Parts: sequence; structure tokens; C-alpha cells
Amino acid sequence: MTATGEPALDRSVLRRVFGTFATGVTVVTVGGGEPHGMTANSFTAVSLDPPLLLVCVEHDAVMHEALVAAGRFAVSVLAAGHGPVARYFADRRRPLGGEQFVSVDVHPGEHTGAPLIDGALAHFECALWNAYDGGDHTIFIGRLLDARCGEDDAALLFHRGRLSPADRDPSGVAA
Ligand SMILES: Cc1cc2nc3c(=O)[nH]c(=O)nc-3n(C[C@H](O)[C@H](O)[C@H](O)COP(=O)(O)O)c2cc1C
Repeated sequence: MTATGEPALDRSVLRRVFGTFATGVTVVTVGGGEPHGMTANSFTAVSLDPPLLLVCVEHDAVMHEALVAAGRFAVSVLAAGHGPVARYFADRRRPLGGEQFVSVDVHPGEHTGAPLIDGALAHFECALWNAYDGGDHTIFIGRLLDARCGEDDAALLFHRGRLSPADRDPSGVAA
């Protein structure tokens, strides 16, 4: 039990249970002097009028401060062949700033300057519209400045801690 009398739920159990919900995979990016990218599967379409989407970012993530500072961000929806890209932007050992994009094929978003992943299924560019408390994450709502379909390809999926297709790492990845 927690101090408030609610049942305590184990983190690893929660991860496993949440992980039964299959999702796509995105890379959230910001531009400017200190560009940054982060793999995220919390992406959700929210509203058509006004056009809104959301992404949840952990407080501890570098992306949290970067997104607030930039005030604009982009989301690239990853294609089936983007497994290595998803792993890379989920790896805290990658370099920071512009250097982290040297090994990835990207082009700048017209409205945000944020790097967009080449070959993605879709690109969204947003202005930060609102932010809500989401426990150890913040729920960032973006108002769309642009939304485009990219490649007409299969999606990269995330289910039970594994990327598919072609998740070659048997240990899976931690979201
Ligand atoms: C498939 C997948 C989905 C993820 N989704 C999210 C997410 O929605 N929000 C989040 O804060 N972290 C998510 N993560 C974890 C971050 O990508 C990871 O912690 C990253 O290293 C944080 O980067 P940063 O601290 O450099 O910004 C996900 C990881 C994976 C592998």
C-alpha cells in the first residue's frame, strides 16, 4: 500500500502490462542551436480541430528541457526499416547536440528547424500548445504547423518490449 492507501504497483509489472499494447514508434526532435532527438511511443493523435497531437516525455529525459526551451518540435513516424534509428535515439550514450544527427539521415523541418528522419512514414511539425502533469512524465500537446505523409512503407512496431520487424537484440529495449 502507498501512503495514500492505494495499492502499490510494481514498476516491472507495470512495464510488462503496459507493453501488451502494441504501438508504432516515433522520433521526437527539436531544432535550434542544440538540436535533440528522442525515441517515443507515447505519441497520440488528439484533435482534428484544432489539429493537436501529444507525446509524453519523462522528466529526466534531456528532451524534456529541450522541448520546453525550443517551444516547437517535430515527430517522425518510423518505418519498418528504422529499428536501428529507434534504438539509437533511445540510447542515452549517444552524443548530444548536432553531433547526434551526424550518423542519421535527416533534413530540417520547414516550420520548426527540427531534424526530420529521412524515409519516415509521416512527419509532423508542431508549436508547443500546452503541457500537463503526467506523473513522472509531462504530457506535451503540440498544435500542428504541418503534417505530411512520407514513404508508403510498413511501420516499425513496438510490442512487449520488442521492436518489429528485425529486432535483432534478444534482450529487447527498455521504453
Ligand atoms: C520503443 C521506445 C519508446 C519510448 N517511448 C518513450 C516515450 O514515449 N517517452 C519517454 O520519455 N521516453 C521514451 N522512451 C525512452 C527514451 O527514448 C530514452 O530514455 C532516451 O534515451 C531519452 O533520451 P534523452 O534523455 O537523451 O532525451 C522510449 C524508448 C523506446 C525504446
